[in-house]
Amino acid sequence: MDTRWDGLLLDCRLATLAGGTAAFGIVEQAAFGWKDGKITFAAAQSALPGNADALATHVESLHGAWITPGLIDCHTHLVFAGNRAGEFDQRLNGASYTDIAKAGGGIVSSVTKTRAASEDDLLAQSLPRARALLADGVTTLEIKSGYGLDLDNEIKMLRVARRIGDSLGITVRTTFLGAHAVPAEFAGRQSDYVDEVCIRMLPAVARAGLADAVDAFCENIAFTPSETRRVFETARACGLPVKLHADQLSDCGGAALAAQVGALSADHLEYTSEAGVRALAAAGSVAVMLPGAFYTLRESKLPPIQELRDHKVPLAVASDLNPGTSPLLSLRQALNMACTLFRMTPEEALRGATVNAARALGLDDRGTLEAGRRADFVVWDIEHPAELCYWIGGALTQRVYADGKILAAS
Ligand code: NIG
Ligand code: FE
Repeated sequence: MDTRWDGLLLDCRLATLAGGTAAFGIVEQAAFGWKDGKITFAAAQSALPGNADALATHVESLHGAWITPGLIDCHTHLVFAGNRAGEFDQRLNGASYTDIAKAGGGIVSSVTKTRAASEDDLLAQSLPRARALLADGVTTLEIKSGYGLDLDNEIKMLRVARRIGDSLGITVRTTFLGAHAVPAEFAGRQSDYVDEVCIRMLPAVARAGLADAVDAFCENIAFTPSETRRVFETARACGLPVKLHADQLSDCGGAALAAQVGALSADHLEYTSEAGVRALAAAGSVAVMLPGAFYTLRESKLPPIQELRDHKVPLAVASDLNPGTSPLLSLRQALNMACTLFRMTPEEALRGATVNAARALGLDDRGTLEAGRRADFVVWDIEHPAELCYWIGGALTQRVYADGKILAAS
């Protein structure tokens, strides 16, 4: 049996993101090796345990290029049919997201189109969005349901999400978001719909093994805290972890509610109070920042970044890729917005799309470049890792690897 590593990259620079303090966990004059999908070496080249040519079956110099962990987008709604460019136009003419939702547009209009699409058509429409994220360095991706809002269509969405992971060779983590909006057939009967979610849909989705977690939209235009709590209790009974769209448009106590049930993450948080921040800190939940939605909705209320820092709540950043509030096809662009709009530092933002995003998904095998972690990594055309947050647009990836295999080359 060949015990040599599958690959060894020499003369590279690493942003390992390992350890809490050193800037980006930088290692200069580094080497990087992997075998069977796991990192075997990520350290100074001078510390290699022997002659490079004898260590691996494939050895190559990167001439000083940078390597980071594969980026992790821990909050997307990228499976949907059609788009909502018409609402974009309405908002530019003064309508608010809430106005549009109350008039029967918004999420519900994506539901109509998603229900009408076949599974294959939904895959064909969604796959290019996942490819765009991958081309920009994403190797782990969360995808929510929530545009089906009945059992068959939620299952269809989750199956499409799984098929995206299979066809691109990246990790897709699926989240059941049945409590995203009330579908037209339950209009005026919101609590009956919550019954449907808790009694029928969620247990069936869990039994089918199609969801890795459960989410809800807790908001005055969506589900109340007590309805959300019911969804969470059902999730827990089904053995699934939870996360929450919390305090995006108003302070509903969503962060505190998520913390009380030990949620993996609370996401958005623009209106979260200091009590909510303290609760997240105590629970160890991740705060997921979604600046694409903040930008698209032209919000002015910033999430409490400084309080979250002061209370040492881990910060993640995600694209929130969705047709309504964040038609954002690049996680790197979300990092740029997190810095410019939310005043996160480039290092905080990059941790937010690697190590803290992994934590938000409950994954402890990735997010840093360290021996033993998954060999998900990206080779970048940059001079410093802060550039991943600095450039707006463009193509910076040289190569993207997942599970030790090369996926995208530019
Ligand atoms: O994260 N806030 C709720 N869900 C999405 C928006 C979904 C939509 O408008 O289609 C969000 O912003
Ligand atoms: Fe979202």
